[in-house]
Parts: sequence; structure tokens; C-alpha cells
Amino acid sequence: MKKENLIIALDGIAEKEALKIARILKGKVWGSKVGDLLYEDSSIIRKLKKFGHVFADVKLHDIPNTVANSVKRLSYAGADMITVHASGGVPMMKAAKQNAGRSKILAVTVLTSQNNKNTKRNVTKLAQDAIDAGLDGVVCSGRELKALKGVRGIKSMIKVVPGIRPVWYSKKDDQKRTITPHEAIRLGADYLVIGRPITKAKSPLKALNEL
Ligand code: C5P
Repeated sequence: MKKENLIIALDGIAEKEALKIARILKGKVWGSKVGDLLYEDSSIIRKLKKFGHVFADVKLHDIPNTVANSVKRLSYAGADMITVHASGGVPMMKAAKQNAGRSKILAVTVLTSQNNKNTKRNVTKLAQDAIDAGLDGVVCSGRELKALKGVRGIKSMIKVVPGIRPVWYSKKDDQKRTITPHEAIRLGADYLVIGRPITKAKSPLKALNEL
């Protein structure tokens, strides 16, 4: 695994703590991912950029015009990657892409906290929509990477995989479709998103090294 593949999810922690973790992990990972912290203040993007790239995981899902406006703001704030929900439809995803500036737009397929018998089919259908809309990548669980290989145009898409659970971290938390980092890389993930196993560790640096 390369350090460039790792994105640290900074969820449920205060800004001060998030910046501290980002500083400790500077140069050792691709960067960090923010979601809930953005609701406090989007200037967190600029602050985190001192320590690496920033992924604004806002999972936008609205009419095309509203999504376009949100993407414009996040792109202006410096987000390197921004998420939209693929279920928002192709016109919504196109509007996001057209207003993304230099930011990459990724489509969230099915949340890794969900699992039912149609998940695989839904993920491949939503990934196809994201490709048709001209997006840069998709977010899916590692368990669908194999099925995705059969989707036309998937090769050039960035594949981001959350729900990463190392063997030494026994908790699933709220995640259902989990996978080990080793398996996700083997199946073709470009980036791994990992949060609690690192951010809740006594020493995030030690946990990262173990990873
Ligand atoms: O703490 P944990 O490693 O479970 O964090 C995973 C992160 O990935 C969370 O920030 C969550 O919002 C995000 N995510 C996910 N499933 C998706 C898309 C994003 O778990 N499909």
C-alpha cells in the first residue's frame, strides 16, 4: 500500500483535534476527508490543505442548479475532491462536473453502511450513470470492485473505497460492507478512506504505521 492511497476521514471530532491529526499525518497520507466539520465553517478546507489534499465528502443530492452552486463554493474553497450522490441523476451529476473547476467530482453509489440483495446491481447501475455524466470517479465498498470491472468506461474512473477495517480493528461500527485494506488494494481500489481505526486510536501515527 502506498501512502498516496490513503485518505483519513476526520468525522465527529472538533476542528482543533482534526487539525492536530492532519498535522501528525502530514506527508504520510494523500490527505484528509471532511464532512460534518464543513457545517461549522468551510474555511476548514484551507486550513487542512496545509497538511495535504482535502476531500469534501458532502454527498450532495439536490436539483442540478443547487448542486452546481454548492460545488462552485467547495471548489473555490480548495477541495480537491467533492462527492455527490449518484442517485441524484445524470443531469445533477453533469451540473456538478460543469461547475467543479479543478476539483474532481466523485459519485457515491451505495453507502457502505447499507446492505441488501440488490446492492451489487445498484452499485454497477449508479457507476454507469456516473460514467455517462462524465464524472471523475466513484465511491463504493471493496466488495463491489470485482463486479464493477464489467462496467463500460470504469477503467478511467477513480475508485474510492471506504468501510476499511484492518484485521487488528475488530469493530465494524456502523459499517456493513467492510473490507481489509489489503483486499481493497488487491481488488483495484485507487484510494482507501479510513476514519475511526486511525482517528480513535490512542496514537493515530502508530495506527497508521500498523496499517
Ligand atoms: O470511520 P470510518 O472508517 O467508518 O469512516 C468511513 C468514512 O467514509 C466516513 O466518513 C463515511 O462518511 C465515508 N463513506 C462511507 N461510505 C460511503 C461513502 C463515504 O462510509 N459509501
